[in-house]
This record gives sequence, structure tokens and C-alpha cells, in this order.
Amino acid sequence: MPKVQFTETVLRDANQSLIATRMPIDVMKPVLAQMDRAGYYSIECWGGATFDSCLRYLDEDPWQRLRTFRKEMPHAKLQMLLRGQNLLGYKHYPDDVVVRFIERSVANGIDIIRIFDALNDLRNIKLAVETTVKAGALASGAISYTTSPVHTLEKYVELCKEMTQMGCGTICIKDMAGVITPKEAYDLVSAIKDALPETPLVLHTHCTTGMAYLSVLKAVEAGCDVIDTASSCFSGGTSQPATETLYDAFSQMGYECGLDRSALKTINDHFKGYRDECLKSGLLKPKAMATDTDALTYKVPGGMLSNLMAQLETMHALDRLEEVLEETPRVRKDLGYPPLVTPMSQMVGVQAVNNVLAGERYKNVSKEVKAYLRGEYGRAPGPVDADLQKQILGDEEPLTCRYADTLEPAFEKTKAELGETARCDEDVLSYIAFPQVAETFFQHRKEKEEKTVRFTIEKL
Ligand code: CO
Repeated sequence: MPKVQFTETVLRDANQSLIATRMPIDVMKPVLAQMDRAGYYSIECWGGATFDSCLRYLDEDPWQRLRTFRKEMPHAKLQMLLRGQNLLGYKHYPDDVVVRFIERSVANGIDIIRIFDALNDLRNIKLAVETTVKAGALASGAISYTTSPVHTLEKYVELCKEMTQMGCGTICIKDMAGVITPKEAYDLVSAIKDALPETPLVLHTHCTTGMAYLSVLKAVEAGCDVIDTASSCFSGGTSQPATETLYDAFSQMGYECGLDRSALKTINDHFKGYRDECLKSGLLKPKAMATDTDALTYKVPGGMLSNLMAQLETMHALDRLEEVLEETPRVRKDLGYPPLVTPMSQMVGVQAVNNVLAGERYKNVSKEVKAYLRGEYGRAPGPVDADLQKQILGDEEPLTCRYADTLEPAFEKTKAELGETARCDEDVLSYIAFPQVAETFFQHRKEKEEKTVRFTIEKL
């Protein structure tokens, strides 16, 4: 019997994509025991933007959230998303911080860490992969999916092979923009499975452009082992395709899915009430649940397009949108075809706007583009325009090593600086990841405790 397994994303990516990661643990908690028994391959529940959101908006300790998941879901495989050397943010961290962060993530309950680099520069994921394996968890190597003349099937297969050699136990095709088409999914999965038949392969995509259900079907037909889906009331639009829908479709086709269908319904029923609340409060916008094919027309992800339009609007230049959209692929080519994901999508978009509005290309260059050309984000996928590099960097040589190699160790130093403010190594890591936000969180935590103590004393 052919088999396909499911990773449930309602707690992380669906939550992040549809309601800006604002789902509190109290909403999740009553259903976690059900989720534990539903039979998912894994439950994506931590990492990505959840960490920042816990500290910044929800007044939750992200580490405590993880321990709650572990306690309430003792059997399920708990999965997190990690941006390699950038951990959960967009800047590079020194190696000692990366190692500690992963060790504590695994110690607090994580089983699978999906690790990627926005540029697919594998030097930026190597340490994270090796540390994950050493800590006893499964490292899943993810390729950031995009299309360009340098992103060939051969290139992707090569990346996958290198990731398995590093120690990745599974491979994920990570299509953050939801642009992979059924044919591309079929061809890519076939090519990777041909080269690495023993390595489980995962497809992660989004419904943004409407391709996802078709692409998942073709991927599974080509041998994809695991698919990312979201409980149906948090599926569709900028989120993943629906778990129950794909379970029913694949089961009828004779695939063994390993899921308890009645548990899936209970889980979805639980989240429905909260989904309606989000719609009412405006946290969930109907637009986020709709299909938007502009990404296919313009070859830029949906989020990037709305950013471009917002930027032009503030400059009263929305009438230049077509020119900017023609300039965007040229800028991308000059920069060696970076995948258009954060932070590269912003970088390319702002540069295209600058080039059009200034009337002269690269007259104004952002400090991010300069840093990119210096190699601070990693190696570009294709050759960078040599004239441009010379124009911007002058005689300065771009980096040949990883940017992280230029960074001083930071964990012990920060721990000493924080003193009693940090109660454990996890606090130190929260602070290193998001200094101001963590500081406010620690302060608030202290105030709350003092209040409780006062209240208890008064009652006595
Ligand atoms: Co995603």
C-alpha cells in the first residue's frame, strides 16, 4: 500500500501565515492531547516567528510554551523551524549561540528541526545540522524553493545530496511563496527521489496562488513521503492546504495516511470557534484566505508585491508599479538570483523601486544590498554582476568565509552581563535573540510576581 504522512502546521505556520502568529497557548492547550494521538508524522509547533511573538505580543515565555507542548504531547514528534545560522531572526549569530540554542531546544522537547538558509548557502546550516544530530534530534534540511536560470534540477539535487552528507535525515522542499506548480513539484520530487531513494522527502508549500493542492498531489505521485497541511479551518490562502481534505483524497486513492479521521474532526472543531473570533476582531483578514495569482503573473511572491505597492503608495508613485515590476527581475539577476524570501525579497524590492524612481540604476544603494554584495548573507546562488560589485565595493574584497566566522562568541559574555535578570540559560538565549523585547518581558514577569506576592501576603 502506498503511503503518505502528514505534518500538521496549525500551531506554527498556519498560525503565522493567517493571524500573524498571535494564537496564545491557552487556545491550543485544550486540544493538544487530541493532537498527540491523531497520528501525524510530526507537529510543527515552535520556531519561526512564534518565539518573537510569544515575548513581544503574548506575554508568554516561548521556552515554557515548548515545555507545555512536550508535557501535553508526550508521543508526537514536535517540530520547529530554524533559519540556520540566523536561528529565528535575520541576522547571523556566532557559533556558540547557535550551539546553545539548539541544545536547549532539544532539551526542552524538540524532536525535529527543519533547517534552511534563505540563499541555500549550506555553510550557513552546517553547524545547526551537526549540533541537532549531536543533541539527538532529527535534522531536516530544507531547500528554499525558487525558479531562475541557475536553479536547475541538477543544482537542487546536488544541494540535497550535500545536506544528507551533513547529517540531514530528511529533506524538505520549502516553497514559502506558494509558487511551485504541479509539474515543477513532480519533476523536482522525481529528481530528488531518483538520487536519494532512501531519504524521506517532505513538501512544504502555501495555498497563496491556488497551486498547492495540485502540486501536493503530483508530488505524492512522484514519491514525496510527507506533506505539510493545516487543520481545515486554518488552511487555504496564505496557509497550507487542509489536512482533512488531503486525508480523504489520498485515502480514497489507496494511500495509507496513518491518521485518525475522527480526531482530525475534533481538532478542527476546536479551532473553529477561535477562527471565528479572529475573523470578528479583524486579526484574520478575508484577503489572507483568498487565492491571489499575482505572484504567478509577476513572478514575485504575494507578500513582496503588497510591500512594493505600499512602498510606492507612500511615495505617491503607484503609477510606476509596472516599471518597478519590470525592474525587479533585472535587479534579481544582477544580484545572482537570490530566492525572493525575507530578507532578500525586501532588498530586491527596495532596490528596484530606488532604481526606477531615481531615474538611474544603483544611484542609491541600501546598506543591506551593500552587505549582501560583501557576502555577509552568504554566497549568491548565481554569479553577481561584476561591474555592480566593483561600483559598490570599490577595492574592498567580498568575504570568502562565513559571516559568522567574523563574530566573537557571545553567550557567556551576555550571561555575565545579564546577571540575575536571566534566571536560566533559556533566558539568556531569549535575550540574545530579541534583546529589547526580552528585557521588557523579564521586567513584566518580575512585576507580575511581585504583585502575586503582595496579594498573597495581604490575604494572609
Ligand atoms: Co511556510
